[in-house]
Amino acid sequence: MHKVILDSDPGVDDALALYYLVRHPRIDLLGVTTVFGNAPVAITTRNARFLLKAWGCDTPVRPGASGPLTPDMPPEDYPVHIHGKNGLGDYPVSDAEADEPDNAAQFLIDQIRANPGQVRVLAVGRLTNLARAVRLAPDIASLVNDVVIMGGAFRVPGNVTPAAEANIWGDPLAADVVFGAPWRVTAVPLDLTTRTFMTRQMLSRLASEGGPAMQLISDLSQDYVGFYARSGYDGMLIHDCTAAVYLTDPDLFDLTQGEVRVLSQGIGMGLTLMNPVSRHGPLAAWEGRPRQFAALDGQPHAILSRIARTCTGQ
Ligand code: BDR
Ligand code: CA
Repeated sequence: MHKVILDSDPGVDDALALYYLVRHPRIDLLGVTTVFGNAPVAITTRNARFLLKAWGCDTPVRPGASGPLTPDMPPEDYPVHIHGKNGLGDYPVSDAEADEPDNAAQFLIDQIRANPGQVRVLAVGRLTNLARAVRLAPDIASLVNDVVIMGGAFRVPGNVTPAAEANIWGDPLAADVVFGAPWRVTAVPLDLTTRTFMTRQMLSRLASEGGPAMQLISDLSQDYVGFYARSGYDGMLIHDCTAAVYLTDPDLFDLTQGEVRVLSQGIGMGLTLMNPVSRHGPLAAWEGRPRQFAALDGQPHAILSRIARTCTGQ
């Protein structure tokens, strides 16, 4: 069993990732921490609770950061054209927004310390909560099993700017802290997630075979599929669920290793730069950083099949 904490900003593709974790027989979901990103944190927290309640789960949800660590960021421009005004494709959710103190970083610290060597953190939003946790409690870097993130664009253009992928762009300093801490980070970036898309046909097959829970995912994903169709994709990009599959099926991912830096200002803000292990010589900006991993390639069809099997229980 993998003990997992999901750090997330639901978010349409976050919803599918959450359902994958809830359904997978080898995942023990310890909790969900939330962050601003696809919507303000009061809404992403409300959404995580709404989804878990709809699926009959009592997994704890802890609200996290409402803004970035990075100084002088432009005001947040929530992606309502992708995830809707309510973060869930404008699927009707009447539950009240969460209005609670931010305690996600402390929850991460407590869970990692209580389960030494076991916790796997899957972070599929801005990395603000994780960066704050490791700054507050540097000991967690050696106590966590590993950190898997959906984020970055290493050899392909970003999806917010030509340089930057959304989760990194939204808090580049936090991403630089996370890649620089002495724990194992595996990034599942746009290089792979832009090749992993679920067609409308597959989504409706999963909805009919997967019961009301998958029907809910399908209903809230309709505008999101439309956005990706208008962007030229034959289906919806399932960024966050692709990263979730790495937890259970790492054999489907091809990893490249190197030290990673993230640009936190200028027109390249949010760019993820990996120094490949084959490059030798003095490189001050990367010097002393841990070698991390990025899934620049993998098997999209097999990843989709694992998602289908898990989410329909077949
Ligand atoms: C990432 O940004 C968010 O909009 C998605 O939920 C995903 O985590 C893709 O760049
Ligand atoms: Ca997300």
